[in-house]
Amino acid sequence: MSTLEVRIEEPVTFVISGATGDLTRRKLLPALYTLFKEKALTQNFSIVGFARRDYDSQSFRSLMAEALREHSRVETDDASLNAFCEHLSYYRGDLSDPTAYAGLKAQFDDGTLPANRLFYLSITPDLIEAAVTGLRAAGLITPPHSKPWTRVVVEKPFGSDLQSARALNCALLDHLDETQIYRIDHYLGKETVQNILSFRFSNILFEPVFNRTYVDHIQITAAETVGMESGRGAFYDKTGAQRDMVVNHLLQLLCLVTMEPPDGLEARSIRNEKMKILRALRLAPETRQHPAICFGQYSGDGKTNAFREEDRVDPQSNTETFAALRMEINNWRWAGVPIYLRTGKRLARKTTEIAVQFKTPPLSLFQHVACKGDVCDLTGVKPNTLIFRIQPDEGIFLQVSAKRPSMQMVVESVNMDFSYSGKWPKDLPEAYERLLLDALRGDSTLFTRSDEAEAEWEVIEPALTIATRHEPSPYAPGSWGPTEADAILLSSNVWKNE
Ligand code: BG6
Repeated sequence: MSTLEVRIEEPVTFVISGATGDLTRRKLLPALYTLFKEKALTQNFSIVGFARRDYDSQSFRSLMAEALREHSRVETDDASLNAFCEHLSYYRGDLSDPTAYAGLKAQFDDGTLPANRLFYLSITPDLIEAAVTGLRAAGLITPPHSKPWTRVVVEKPFGSDLQSARALNCALLDHLDETQIYRIDHYLGKETVQNILSFRFSNILFEPVFNRTYVDHIQITAAETVGMESGRGAFYDKTGAQRDMVVNHLLQLLCLVTMEPPDGLEARSIRNEKMKILRALRLAPETRQHPAICFGQYSGDGKTNAFREEDRVDPQSNTETFAALRMEINNWRWAGVPIYLRTGKRLARKTTEIAVQFKTPPLSLFQHVACKGDVCDLTGVKPNTLIFRIQPDEGIFLQVSAKRPSMQMVVESVNMDFSYSGKWPKDLPEAYERLLLDALRGDSTLFTRSDEAEAEWEVIEPALTIATRHEPSPYAPGSWGPTEADAILLSSNVWKNE
């Protein structure tokens, strides 16, 4: 048994369409290599890189070995690399040309490739329809619920708005059954994201207070320090922070932290509960002092480029590299609780976290202080905050007030914490390892269903429309985004930037 506690026994072919892209080098191959090293894959597996560029199997293997040396989180000794690379081959073709698939089909027919097949579409949304049509026309898609099986993994962004997501779903469902489609959102594969549900529903302590009576507001932040490295400028300029991060990763986090308990852990139960949240979720109405939305774009500082100076970015671009939104959930549990989402590139620190801030006690009996050594300042009441730290320093932290040892009755904010590295010192598995393994064994729980993907776009559509009418506010690299973002916060709420 592998150390991942799961092993794929069936022979399988993993075809990566768009195999020469950055995702293959940085994420897909390293994840497959770890699965191989951890003995989670059967011996009888093949990985086929499918793309237009002029490689052959030999040069593709060398390229991938180099990528693994650079990006693998597990040891890349020559013997293991060679053994793994023997499973790799390259198939050259134009993904949008239906005739390009015939040679691939022949390799399945003559038994060169194991018959169960997973097609990983690591391509832009505009190519997906052509790719699936090509697979179907070549007879590469087997019927649903049959052996050998066919599964298709679709990368985000899933379309670019509601209309295109619907069209994409129709195109996919024309050729495939929903059970064969795996829409990937790698955040769902993160160990700490999965822990949100475990933490909420395996402890009796927190669930009774997870509601509008006790929760003041929720903040979900995904901040990054990177800009347009790895030649992402062209993609990102067309996409922007809302389509890249909010509509998928941030909304998924929001669903997990606010959904009702599912009636089981299988895909249908969890997805049904997430859908109920998405149906009740909307951009909060703006007030005169408080807009519901703020967009930003990073400027340069002499050392790093402004977004508009990045490679393959329009010098006049109005694409947002920062987005902050105030949302609300119109249901019994959460009505009236502001939910703030925030994400951006070139911010002060790389961090992804969810902070659930509770209300303060009805009567403040104690003086609250913050101290550095023996020097203390009065701070006003500090509310309890429960923080799910998704990355880095993964863990769960609860901020509570405790009496500071002294003759005076004063309290100070302290942390009760659980950190993964303290309890389980081993590296956490990479999200793609978990998700690829799940797709290979046919478990779609951590993938997005067609109605979910459309509902996410429906929720974010008003914000996308507003974005087209507004120039993003500039912000300094290394900051927490434009100061205008403070205006979306209600009452005395402040961003958690510690
Ligand atoms: C990807 C986005 O989905 O997620 C990237 O396209 C972003 O722009 C990345 O950098 C962040 O992922 P993680 O796992 O580093 O938080």
